[in-house]
Amino acid sequence: MRAKIIAANWKMNKGYHVGLTFAQALVRALEPPTHHSAQIILLPPFIHLSTLSQTLAIQQHIHLGAQNCHQDAYGAFTGEIAAPMLRSVGAQYVLVGHSERRQLFNEDNRLLAKKVTAALPHALKPIFCCGESAETRAEGGQEAFVKQQLVESLFHLTAQQIAQVIIAYEPIWAIGTGKTATPTEVQAMHQAIRSMVTQQYGEAIGQDLPILYGGSCNAQNAHVLFSCPDVDGGLIGKASLEVASFVPIVNALNEVAA
Ligand code: PGA
Repeated sequence: MRAKIIAANWKMNKGYHVGLTFAQALVRALEPPTHHSAQIILLPPFIHLSTLSQTLAIQQHIHLGAQNCHQDAYGAFTGEIAAPMLRSVGAQYVLVGHSERRQLFNEDNRLLAKKVTAALPHALKPIFCCGESAETRAEGGQEAFVKQQLVESLFHLTAQQIAQVIIAYEPIWAIGTGKTATPTEVQAMHQAIRSMVTQQYGEAIGQDLPILYGGSCNAQNAHVLFSCPDVDGGLIGKASLEVASFVPIVNALNEVAA
């Protein structure tokens, strides 16, 4: 069975004390994990990683990741952070290619390929984000667009490497807008992504690949989205910032997985 995953993208929110208090409250509010519980991946700003990795050390089903990393392992890159540094403070995952990084920080498919390649040797699993704009969807070009993102940023990996990757489908028009893709749209794209990966790497890798949906996922729509056969969980932005809005999303995935 494929891994079930809820990733919480805090983006640029929560100072040190607020983040710590929030993580502690979250642990108290989550139901005790069972063998089929979803894995939870918290993606806080870098400043939290070291403390949270100690605070959450005994929580077997809660992991930590970063929202970005540089494509080089070290060097004179003022203001940047490298994969081995993230690993050294307890991160096990890293978001690569979030649409905000693509749009606001000019990250393109070629650069993202380098970031994915940089993360893997340090046991950082990339959560690779892909997804189309409203204009691309209006023209019916969404699958070709996403395919190009996968081909240019992921398909240079070996089979062993791609088995470490999680894909998050996040249509740009749904991120932070309150407009969620319909279950039909989500299932169609997730199925398409799985078949692209299957064509490139074979049936076993395609079937094992976790594909998360992101974009205005919340307590109201989580259950129906997670019920789609090719949806293995969610990448949650706004609704991950409060315990009351995040826990029901985790519960929804656990119900679907049970
Ligand atoms: P949202 O963000 O849930 O606030 O739409 C999702 C994301 O950007 O990963």
